[in-house]
Amino acid sequence: MTTADRNAELVRRREAARQPYDPAAARRQRERGKLTARERVDALLDRGSFVELDALARHRCHHFGMDTKRPYGDGVVTGYGTVDGRQVCVFAQDFTVFGGSLGEVYGEKIIKVMDLALRTGVPIIGLNDSGGARIQEGVVSLAYYAELVRRHVAASGVIPQISLMTGPCAGGAVYAPAITDIVVMVDGISHMFVTGPEVLRAVTGRRVNHDELGGAHTHNTVSGNAHHLADDEKAAFDYVRTLLGHLPSNNMTDPPEYAPAPPAIAAADLDTIIPDDGSRPYDMTQVIRGVLDDGELLEVHALFAPNIICGLGRVEGRSVGVVANQPMHLAGALDIDASEKAARFIRFCDAFNVPVLTLVDVPGFLPSTEQERGGIIRRGAKLIYAYAEATVPMVTVVTRKAYGGGYGVMGSKHLGTDVTFAWPTGQIAVMGSDSAVSVLHRKAPAEERERLRAEYEETLCNPYVAADRGYVDAVILPSETRDQVARALRALRDKRVDRVPRKHGNIPL
Ligand code: HXC
Repeated sequence: MTTADRNAELVRRREAARQPYDPAAARRQRERGKLTARERVDALLDRGSFVELDALARHRCHHFGMDTKRPYGDGVVTGYGTVDGRQVCVFAQDFTVFGGSLGEVYGEKIIKVMDLALRTGVPIIGLNDSGGARIQEGVVSLAYYAELVRRHVAASGVIPQISLMTGPCAGGAVYAPAITDIVVMVDGISHMFVTGPEVLRAVTGRRVNHDELGGAHTHNTVSGNAHHLADDEKAAFDYVRTLLGHLPSNNMTDPPEYAPAPPAIAAADLDTIIPDDGSRPYDMTQVIRGVLDDGELLEVHALFAPNIICGLGRVEGRSVGVVANQPMHLAGALDIDASEKAARFIRFCDAFNVPVLTLVDVPGFLPSTEQERGGIIRRGAKLIYAYAEATVPMVTVVTRKAYGGGYGVMGSKHLGTDVTFAWPTGQIAVMGSDSAVSVLHRKAPAEERERLRAEYEETLCNPYVAADRGYVDAVILPSETRDQVARALRALRDKRVDRVPRKHGNIPL
């Protein structure tokens, strides 16, 4: 062969690797409204930045006629590139090749790019579209899934790991993403199940459709397995790009800084946001809009446990994670889902050097038999644990109620929050005046109750008792909130915390 022949051979192989191995399968992929693996990588990363690895790798399986089908790339596109100019590693599963299933070579490819991400300290983004372990490769596929999840665990809290679910994902194809930080699903095309509807029917006789069992709505609203529901693939990529803009490349660096911007709501408007009638709800997102730069919050788990809001924004151009009770849902009470949602989010922020801002209006934990039986003690404890172990700067603002267990749990000073504020409307007490009077003065005549309620509010149910003891650092006007939060975060920028060495804590799971 001449040198020209050899060069031509490479060009031919490269071209073969770029073309769909099974054009009919690629057509079916399109008919389902899905992009191909390569189109996805191109749409997610900065134009022209992608560098592919192992494009010419092929499987070594000889069973079930696999000898005759040896596509280049083995059903997964891996490599590195940039998002908004920042380096990332990526893998995209190709459903048109053996249903995107994972075999030995496929597994080796993902592990290689994950190891590269860990070694270089950059986020890893997985585009998942896979039938799970490749049946033809037997135990080797299972072994590689286990190797893969071990990498995900090793990378947890070291580099951001983001999973985009862009097709039907089963078995290992859901357990690997479940270990990552953020799971994004796309309406209509994403499904996640450990056991699919066909197997479920065969084993239990129960018929359930794909969407009910593991569709994007189910996992965003009911199970909480997904953190974001995107309308289409493009919206999913936009979400991931915005998310990355709030995060550092790894746990040893800080999130990128942007130009500071004013909030979306004038400071003075916050002074009138709390209704005179203490039992009336108000929208906590308005308070958030009055504190964050441009009022912008990128919500995480927006459709799950809406009684608590979690999301990323910026104050003076620097990332901050917001955890806020939402009085519009369940009066902002904490239940199992809200506790787990916020606990996971706080640990995510803590791992990646994002300060936590907590906005409190909480009547306490939700009283209910189902909650008690469902393990609110063990599962609510995760939230306490997450706050107490976090070492990032933490700032808390009590806007109205901070009753009972809710007071202690929601980022109180006693759990380690650095700076705490309360508004004059703050009610920091064991319970509200109605409840307190009915417990303490059960037999008091109706005309006497009003006086007792007023007495309770004046002596115990206000922000000044806590301020008197230094449990809140200052009582501030609502209109002063943005300024005070910004000053506190500035002061805490170089916060350092030493901990006694240990293998790991034992968070209640
Ligand atoms: C090999 C597979 C495959 C697999 C799908 N295909 N899954 N090939 N191994 N696991 C192939 C199909 O044979 C088909 O090939 C093509 O991919 C498209 O699949 P369809 O079934 O036609 O697609 P669809 O109707 O969209 O259904 C998608 C699906 C279904 C829901 C994912 O294929 C499915 O249930 N697959 C099996 C899922 C599963 O049980 N996986 C193993 C899990 S165990 P042709 O040639 O016909 O186009 C596991 C262990 C993890 O993963 C361990 C973790 C530690």
